[in-house]
Amino acid sequence: MSVEWKIIGDDKVSAIGLGTWAIRNYDQAYNAYLYALTNGINNIDTAEMYDSGRAEEFVGRLVHAVGRDNIFITTKILPDRLIDKDLVLKAGRAALKRLGVDYVDLYLIHWPNRNLSIEEQVRNFEILAKEGLTRYIGVSNFNVYELDKAIHSLARERIVAVQLHYSILHKSEVENEMLDYCRRNNIAIQAYTPLERGAVAGHPVVKQVADKYGKTPIQVALNYLISQGNVIPIPKAEKIEHVKEILGSMGWRMDVKDLEILRGI
Ligand SMILES: NC(=O)c1ccc[n+]([C@@H]2O[C@H](COP(=O)([O-])OP(=O)(O)OC[C@H]3O[C@@H](n4cnc5c(N)ncnc54)[C@H](OP(=O)(O)O)[C@@H]3O)[C@@H](O)[C@H]2O)c1
Repeated sequence: MSVEWKIIGDDKVSAIGLGTWAIRNYDQAYNAYLYALTNGINNIDTAEMYDSGRAEEFVGRLVHAVGRDNIFITTKILPDRLIDKDLVLKAGRAALKRLGVDYVDLYLIHWPNRNLSIEEQVRNFEILAKEGLTRYIGVSNFNVYELDKAIHSLARERIVAVQLHYSILHKSEVENEMLDYCRRNNIAIQAYTPLERGAVAGHPVVKQVADKYGKTPIQVALNYLISQGNVIPIPKAEKIEHVKEILGSMGWRMDVKDLEILRGI
């Protein structure tokens, strides 16, 4: 099993991270995520929204187990908070308390607040970096236009990552424009729902390519994403056997021809 690395800001993160949305059994998930963190995965995605803060508390348990320096934490703020810098700080401090840390590595706007201009919301949001609650900032569910606006509205911070729905079965939105834009601007893409909740495993073309390489369809679906440049899929997997399978999606490459076949799905 060999781990690959990508870049967020100036940090090296594993090419695969793990998400924490909709965990059913936190004890089962704890074992699976601890296995991941001790076998090469170093980045975990969470949000204040997930299970009303319990997912952040879960990440806090993992930090306690592996040590703060061994985990790159991404969390997300709810867009309603962005109306006011004090509200942003209050939400940020509450998140840090749940996580049991002094700072996170990456804070994202979960999705744009439709009642505020992009300028106003990102300027209120960047207080989290200014006050040291996070090392980096980014956005999620922004389109290219909104991302560009955000980049040009910031007073002192830079956007290092954007989190988007991106999988082998849901790729045109990202591949049409966003992928190039992010390449040009040194922005990492965190790909969410990269397994389409397991559905990628049932696609006949993915299965066919997987057989050729002696890999599983899940591994091919994730490997396709990490072959696209600075893309970091963040699957969620609370079963340890799922985590083991996911780890096997790093450290190898498919032929350009096969990548093209997969791109055509
Ligand atoms: N920014 C946003 O708006 C946004 C939106 C959605 C999601 N996200 C983030 O992205 C993460 C991942 O997305 P997601 O949870 O929507 O979907 P996903 O990762 O595509 O799918 C998760 C599901 O796939 C199953 N799975 C994992 N590994 C598997 C394997 N090897 N074989 C078969 N099934 C497997 C998991 O099962 P088990 O859990 O039973 O192992 C789970 O039911 C979330 O947890 C969250 O952190 C962000």
